Amino acid sequence: MPLDGDTDRSRREVLKAAVALGGASALSACLDRTADEPVPTGDPSAKPARQHAWREYIRHDDHGNSQLPSHQILLYLTLDADGPPSADDRDALGETLDALDRAYAWSHEGLLHSIAYSPAYFERFDESLPEGIDLPEPTALSPFESPTFDRQDALLHLASDRPDALLEADRALRGERDAANGVSVPPLTDALTVDSRRTGFVGAGLPAQHQDAAGIPDSKPVPEASPLFMGFKAGFRGNQATEDYVTIDDGPFAGGTTKVVANLRQRLDDRYEEQTHEERVMEMFSPGYAAEGLVEGVGDTLGSDSGIDRFVDDLESDAREYGRVGHAQKAARANRDSAGNVRLLRRHFESTDDIGSDQQVASLHFPSLQRRVSEFEAVRRAMNGTDLTEVTPAVRQRVNNGILEYIFVRRRGNFLVPPRRHRVLPTPRPE
Ligand code: HEM
Repeated sequence: MPLDGDTDRSRREVLKAAVALGGASALSACLDRTADEPVPTGDPSAKPARQHAWREYIRHDDHGNSQLPSHQILLYLTLDADGPPSADDRDALGETLDALDRAYAWSHEGLLHSIAYSPAYFERFDESLPEGIDLPEPTALSPFESPTFDRQDALLHLASDRPDALLEADRALRGERDAANGVSVPPLTDALTVDSRRTGFVGAGLPAQHQDAAGIPDSKPVPEASPLFMGFKAGFRGNQATEDYVTIDDGPFAGGTTKVVANLRQRLDDRYEEQTHEERVMEMFSPGYAAEGLVEGVGDTLGSDSGIDRFVDDLESDAREYGRVGHAQKAARANRDSAGNVRLLRRHFESTDDIGSDQQVASLHFPSLQRRVSEFEAVRRAMNGTDLTEVTPAVRQRVNNGILEYIFVRRRGNFLVPPRRHRVLPTPRPE
């Protein structure tokens, strides 16, 4: 569909605001404006076996980097009764997800979705998860954070470039309407309760549009070209694990993956008001990037790989010479296996959610996929850079230490994303 011209621009603006609001009037605003642009419906037999298979079904930029769906919703769900789920719960959820598959094509223009289950969910059963599944309870991963843990049973993640499709699916799932995209969808609330609904967006233009939020200075500094509030691109193809790499390869959950989802609050006042572009580049990537002038604007100049591997060994000398170290530089040191493969597949998106309040704050939903949760934990700890505070007093735990001065972890949950065949309230040992 055409996306330029004033009419389309203002229509898109209404839709984007509507995902953030999610209310009935916002949704009807969406529906009025897009009735003439059909959303592709789905063929349940054409869905990939992996729920996390997104890359082939979304947009890519000119360098082959994935462009995540612009609008996303996370529904955190709890089962109403104690103990294992009942056959009725399974039938109900199975029908809901099957209906969603009929309603939407598996595509950024239709709807991508995946349901995942927490360690607390698997605790409902007498039997335990198979040996190879690494799914611990969430924990604090730095000495300076004390997040609330998301221990709900399940997490349903919805994503689309079409805000109208996303909102209609969301409302049907929550029982606020009977059908989505013309297909009758029984609400998931027949089996589960929505404990928390979180929304977000990603992609050039959207952060600039939503920058009227606590944590971002009134000067509206977020560039129109930036896909994220911090002013840079992330998720270069060469710095992301492949979907194959993060896929569990044996046992009953073969074809699945694990998912850690954090919610972070961002406070970007000082970053935008007191720092130059060079200083921001040093802290995001590494001082060497600033010295060599590698990052112009939001970082398109980096192509399909940030090139960080060349700067990882400089951490200590950068700390001494520049009194600063970079975020990507610190994270990368734990983000390779012994063969040099990248371990995490990050799929983070921005938000103005202040979970539990109506305030608009700059925040971030950070889903990361990996074969084992411990891989995420190792990378997150490497990003703390606590070791570098011993190199020079200039680098402190949260100052001159990557982006730690600006991000505050508020929530974290760990989940298992089963393969599609076991997506409906699985036992710990399906098959
Ligand atoms: C607001 C928060 C964050 C922003 C804006 C951000 C942004 C970025 C950017 C621009 C890069 C460099 C480009 C790239 O490779 O994607 C990067 C790299 C990376 N970030 Fe973040 N990040 C954030 C939080 C986090 C968190 C919480 C983690 C948790 C582990 C993390 C892990 C990584 C990893 C693993 C890399 C790749 C390093 C490599 O090449 O192996 N980031 N991030």
